[in-house]
Amino acid sequence: MKNFKRYTVTAALPYANGPLHIGHIAGAYLPADIYVRFLRLRENDVIFICGSDEHGAAITLKAKKENITPQQLVDKYHELMKNAFADFGIEFSIYHRTSTPLHHQTAADFFSVMHKKGKFTEETSEQYYDEENKLFLADRYITGTCPKCGNESAYGDQCEKCGSTLSPTDLINPKSVLSGKTPVMKTTSHWYLPLGEHEAWLKEWINKGTLDGVEQHNPAEWKNQVLGQCNSWLDAGLQSRAMTRDLDWGVKVPLPNAEGKVLYVWLDAPIGYISATKQWAADNKTDWEKWWKDEETKLLHFVGKDNIVFHALIFPVMLRSHGEFILENNVPANEFLNLEGDKISTSRNHAIWLHEYLQDFPNRQDELRYVLCSIAPESKDSEFTWKDFQARNNNELVAILGNFVNRSVVLTHKYFEGKIPDVKPDTKFLLGIKDAYDKVEQNIEKYRFREALAEAMNVARSGNKYLADNEPWKLINTDKEKTAEVIHTSLLVAAHLSILLEPFLPFTTKKLRTLLGITKPVSWFFEETQLMHSGQEIGQPLHLFTNIDDETIQKQLEKLHAMKPIATEVAAEPAAIKPSKPEITFEDFAKSDIRIGTILEAEKIPKADKLLKLLVDTGIDKRTVVSGIAAYYKPEDIIGQKVSILVNLAPRKLRGIESQGMILMAEDVNGKLCFVQPSENITNGGEVK
Ligand code: MF3
Ligand code: ZN
Repeated sequence: MKNFKRYTVTAALPYANGPLHIGHIAGAYLPADIYVRFLRLRENDVIFICGSDEHGAAITLKAKKENITPQQLVDKYHELMKNAFADFGIEFSIYHRTSTPLHHQTAADFFSVMHKKGKFTEETSEQYYDEENKLFLADRYITGTCPKCGNESAYGDQCEKCGSTLSPTDLINPKSVLSGKTPVMKTTSHWYLPLGEHEAWLKEWINKGTLDGVEQHNPAEWKNQVLGQCNSWLDAGLQSRAMTRDLDWGVKVPLPNAEGKVLYVWLDAPIGYISATKQWAADNKTDWEKWWKDEETKLLHFVGKDNIVFHALIFPVMLRSHGEFILENNVPANEFLNLEGDKISTSRNHAIWLHEYLQDFPNRQDELRYVLCSIAPESKDSEFTWKDFQARNNNELVAILGNFVNRSVVLTHKYFEGKIPDVKPDTKFLLGIKDAYDKVEQNIEKYRFREALAEAMNVARSGNKYLADNEPWKLINTDKEKTAEVIHTSLLVAAHLSILLEPFLPFTTKKLRTLLGITKPVSWFFEETQLMHSGQEIGQPLHLFTNIDDETIQKQLEKLHAMKPIATEVAAEPAAIKPSKPEITFEDFAKSDIRIGTILEAEKIPKADKLLKLLVDTGIDKRTVVSGIAAYYKPEDIIGQKVSILVNLAPRKLRGIESQGMILMAEDVNGKLCFVQPSENITNGGEVK
């Protein structure tokens, strides 16, 4: 294994054309911040690099729509994003921007070095050109009808309605966004990166972790989905990719006869990591190069799923082609976070925006950090729901962590005048904490932040159990010495929680340390008993967290639904729709006798958490039906509802209850169920045909 002296940690530069939502945070910034906070606590040398990606056609287009310059647009969103990150405690060493002269110079130089070394090919192609405005149209500047779904306002690179990836020539009836006219085809030339020439070493590097046989990284530490994506690209064969575009906003191609051409995102944004490092080094009067060129630097890129190939294949090719740079050690990418059964979508406004969250939940950053880390899409897509947010806040943060700290502090005031008792703590119990440090550390090093957080929370759980087992409120009547030991121990557990949880909950742990009177800077190194000294005074009891009620959650749900301009059907993933079953005749269908009925009674079935026992009036009779809907409906909510019921299904026993028929349910792609109900009031017994 290689030994590393320092860490360069980057998080994908977000486009400065909109505010940040929870998907961004869960995908890249929160895991990166947790990792870096841990490294800082462990006293590793680390820089944490990010900034705004301020170029690209999406930005010029949006500026045009808002009638401002691209610079004005990115100025606005750069500020907004920078503040949102700071508000959530995402503590970059620098949050830079790609519109700065330093970045332009750095990216142009990078291009020049590669160009001089002959790393590009120059190729011509036909592209759409707007004759009225005299410019080539970037993909986003062309709209037309989507060939897949018929949406009339699809873009040249993507249809936002059906999600298909498109190229401009796929569009039916293409129009220039600028002039509204039909564009013409015209020849243009660009610099391409012939990725195919790099396949052999990329395959070795990705799968063996070696370059020319020399060890670089350990592929076993890479996530499966990252290796999987890279290998499926490599297996398909890598195509040459254009590294420049016809656009007047961005880093100018530093060559004569390249008028109106800029570097494409690949040769622009990731170089932003390097230019940001240069600025950080200048600000701190230190050298930037060792962070990018020294073999003893561990370079890590935290990105979302959509940036995997970019960082694990294209950027390494650039770095190696340039020649002076180290390659990344890992790209710990996350998958996507969904929201309330649907994809997060900026265009449909199906999102939770960070700045809005903070308006609705002031000073409750850690609650969101906690939940987003607990459900982070580390190895597969995951889902945020407000109900789950509430449950984790109330049942975990309040009931476990907050409660433990509060009890320890209250007891200290009650029995020991708010001072740390002057007896030795229970060193045997504290050994468990040493173990927790190891577990949290091992998980963080493997980029398993969910598991790491769960291990840290287990310390609070064991603290609660320790208090419950020792019952200091009873013990005080018989053994003051032992009570003092229990309280001292509990306070130490709380103190260690303020370190173990620091990477995850930085606002709370700071509060906690103030409460406990810990003023010196803390580190990861376990000092069993030295965090606090006997006789030290602690603060007044407080609640680190408070319950979130149903009404608050309901409001958020309503806000989310109210925001949506388009119905949700659009978001359903076409791939997830089941193919149709084999053909049947009408006679086959007519064998089913389906009626409209009303639910008269509903109750849970003990030890069967999916099932409800229903009594249904079918018009023909009243019968018992067992239905697997307990996860979607509460019994009390469905009494009186109209349903469709298959009445001639052979009865069968479920959990000892005879079910006489079946309630018809509609299921969405996420497996969510709802009743199939008549759209008007139909009397019981009415046939469905
Ligand atoms: N801004 C681009 C995106 O969000 C690229 C980010 S990754 C970087 O997809 F490497 F370019 F920063
Ligand atoms: Zn479409």
